[in-house]
Amino acid sequence: MANPVPAVLFVCLGNICRSPLAEAAMQHEALAARLTLDIDSAGTGAWHVGNPPDPRSIAEAARHGIDISHYAARQVTTEDFHRFDHIVALDRSNLANLQRLAPDDGTANLSMLMDHVPGMAGRDVNDPYYGEPRDFARTWREVLAGARGLLGKLA
Ligand code: 4NP
Repeated sequence: MANPVPAVLFVCLGNICRSPLAEAAMQHEALAARLTLDIDSAGTGAWHVGNPPDPRSIAEAARHGIDISHYAARQVTTEDFHRFDHIVALDRSNLANLQRLAPDDGTANLSMLMDHVPGMAGRDVNDPYYGEPRDFARTWREVLAGARGLLGKLA
């Protein structure tokens, strides 16, 4: 059965840096647009399952008035490819992992977040894990642009 509202899953590697910021940006933009969406995030890796986001992602979201400290990392499951209408990878490596994990009968549409920004198709969202706070600020700008582009298509 089709989802009553569009369901969107953002996926990075660890689900502690980039995809929580993408989830937060999408929630924020959907609220502003008065659009009801089912939004979640996950990682292809299991290292950080159950952990809150990276403190630098928590701080970056807080700078934009969004509290993500209660998020808990989880790993992508086979069920996700049926439950979500859109599974949105943060970079090419994440997309390749998703394509490998996708079941043959999966119904989710796979894309990369920057595909939804005019002129940015095929580009990766900056991975700030080994970076500094300013790298998280750049990641925020990118995921916000992606969220706005994707929202424009879902609205
Ligand atoms: P994320 O960042 O995929 O944006 O959550 C990373 C988190 C953890 C690792 C790499 C990237 N790691 O190597 O553990």
